[in-house]
Amino acid sequence: YFATTGSEPGVLAELLIAGLNQVGILWRASPALQELEELTLDWLRQLLGLPEGFDGHIEDTASTGVLAALVVARSLQPDRRVVVCSEHAHSLADKAAKLLELELRKVSVDDAFRLRPELLELDDACAVVATIGTTGAGAVDPTPAIADACEAAGTWLHVDAAYAGSAAICPELRHHFAGWERADSIGVNPHKWLGVPMDCSALLTRRPHDFRRAFSLVPEFLQSPDDAVNLSELSIPLGRRFRALKLWAVLRCYGRVGLQERIREHIRLAALFEEWVRGEPGWEVVAPRNFSLVCFRKDGTDEENERLLERVNDSGEVFLSHARLGGRYSLRLAVGNFRTTEDDVGLAWDVLRREASG
Ligand SMILES: Cc1ncc(COP(=O)(O)O)c(C=O)c1O
Repeated sequence: YFATTGSEPGVLAELLIAGLNQVGILWRASPALQELEELTLDWLRQLLGLPEGFDGHIEDTASTGVLAALVVARSLQPDRRVVVCSEHAHSLADKAAKLLELELRKVSVDDAFRLRPELLELDDACAVVATIGTTGAGAVDPTPAIADACEAAGTWLHVDAAYAGSAAICPELRHHFAGWERADSIGVNPHKWLGVPMDCSALLTRRPHDFRRAFSLVPEFLQSPDDAVNLSELSIPLGRRFRALKLWAVLRCYGRVGLQERIREHIRLAALFEEWVRGEPGWEVVAPRNFSLVCFRKDGTDEENERLLERVNDSGEVFLSHARLGGRYSLRLAVGNFRTTEDDVGLAWDVLRREASG
């Protein structure tokens, strides 16, 4: 999995959110909630380097966000019943396709676990879900080539950057995000790597009017003369929590530079761990490291690596997870908590080597 993220400003804001207990069903039910959500999402857009024209709102999770995006894509092309993603896409694509009764077509990946765009056939596809920062390997699908194919076929492009998206606040990492500005919709989870406690998933879209066409349903008792598009007209739920307050608190307290420092530190720690693994005979890094996730394994069988992971986690000292990469059982170390230090990562490496030799 990815590390849990959270921070003091985020936690304090959660307390306030619970205390205020806003129920944002309409702009007039809580103007502050809606105005702050629009403002903070625009700040986030700017931090991520996305151009003007992307509107955002907050969903509970990336899974709900992709479901909403696919609802819009399907509504635009009801005759196209296929969604395309790579075999390494998160299972949110499987779940959304299942719920919408669409067929999910998985495209194979190259040796860096990236979707192979030359295999895309989109004539019958209403949407492609590309991933920047896959769950298993942290791989980056080639978004520019995928966007070309989507534009040629008139297919909706959703970019799932739930984990890695927060890294786009660092200009030196923006190359991973080339082409995402051409997506119709993008999911980024500040609750994964930006210090915002669960739950806070940003859905950014260049197509807010299509979202409104697909989702707007304002019954008589909710109609009002206000000159505002209620956020409930852009998404599945009617009522919404004041999640923007915790995103606002985190953005205001850390600022651009403070958040960049933390992301850079996590990447430094992951790079350090990667160096240790590469330098140790009998251990292997099994995927290119793009962000703060290192995928590796110990010489030996899948079963031996699986047992190693169990022993490491049973120790209670650290917690790692696994992925199957290129058919092989691999271990994953993901850095992402604001309190993780070099000592913690060093401890993880000590525990791994201890349990591997025991
Ligand atoms: C790339 C990616 N997308 C989506 C998700 C799911 O996110 P959520 O729990 O917000 O639905 C994850 C979770 O790890 C992920 O890594």
